[in-house]
Amino acid sequence: MANDNDTRVALVTGSNQGIGYAIAGRLAADGMRVVLNGRRAAAVAEAAKKVAATGADATGIAADVSSEQAVARLFEEIQSRYGRLDVVVNNAGIAPRIEGRSARVEDTPLDYWQRTIAVNLTGAFLVSRAALSLMKARRWGRIINISSQSGRMYTGFGSAYYAASKAGLIGFSRVLAGEVGEYGITVNCVSPGRIKTAMAATFANADRVDQQYIDRTPLRKVGYPDDVAGAVSFLASDAASFITGAVLDITGGFFMP
Ligand SMILES: NC(=O)c1ccc[n+]([C@@H]2O[C@H](COP(=O)([O-])OP(=O)(O)OC[C@H]3O[C@@H](n4cnc5c(N)ncnc54)[C@H](OP(=O)(O)O)[C@@H]3O)[C@@H](O)[C@H]2O)c1
Repeated sequence: MANDNDTRVALVTGSNQGIGYAIAGRLAADGMRVVLNGRRAAAVAEAAKKVAATGADATGIAADVSSEQAVARLFEEIQSRYGRLDVVVNNAGIAPRIEGRSARVEDTPLDYWQRTIAVNLTGAFLVSRAALSLMKARRWGRIINISSQSGRMYTGFGSAYYAASKAGLIGFSRVLAGEVGEYGITVNCVSPGRIKTAMAATFANADRVDQQYIDRTPLRKVGYPDDVAGAVSFLASDAASFITGAVLDITGGFFMP
């Protein structure tokens, strides 16, 4: 059963800034009702207010996606406010660095490894698991996971803990796509390259990393949050209804399998 966008509800995790914020704005412009999220409640409320100012139905719900209890509360709120959820974008992510650099494996504290896996991978699992019954009930759903080029190839820029979380997301998405296809739910990943956000700026030598990226990229530029939002909008649409288990690379050609 296909529904129109103006009744659909989309949750975008980690959307008080950066790529998630651009995705929330884009899905709102597509006509969906959007739930914005992040851990910092004030930033979440502010971001939702800005999207709502465009005339959209936008709500902010703060929650740490790596906490099972917090995700349960997030879904209680979605259930009571909307009674449905059609689109999930698992975008919340972290890439902790030590003194502006990605730690090498031998220098990686266990805590960095665990926190990154907990947010980037376990968070997507918890949110997707909670969304399935709502999507199955309407026999329509879209789960879009924000992976990374670091999960697809060795870039020389990232850490093993981040790459492992993002490669894990691709394996997770593939199996979930196989499990839920019969309910009209698609599960896909997008895999961005270097996108200009606060996260990309956390490298001590961010400008040099930008230039190295540009030099190795056929399109000779870095990406912007709207480049990712456009791809997510497509995967969330009815136009993408025969696409599942896919990874859409948004790298300017840096990664070409
Ligand atoms: N920028 C890039 O070059 C790039 C490339 C490939 C992939 N990505 C991926 O794209 C996604 C967005 O990245 P970005 O560049 O936009 O990063 P960003 O500007 O640092 O934004 C990250 C967002 O995630 C939220 N967040 C972090 N931990 C969370 C948690 N435990 N629970 C809920 N929300 C949480 C943050 O809000 P709070 O701080 O309030 O929690 C923030 O809204 C990430 O998954 C990232 O790995 C980015």
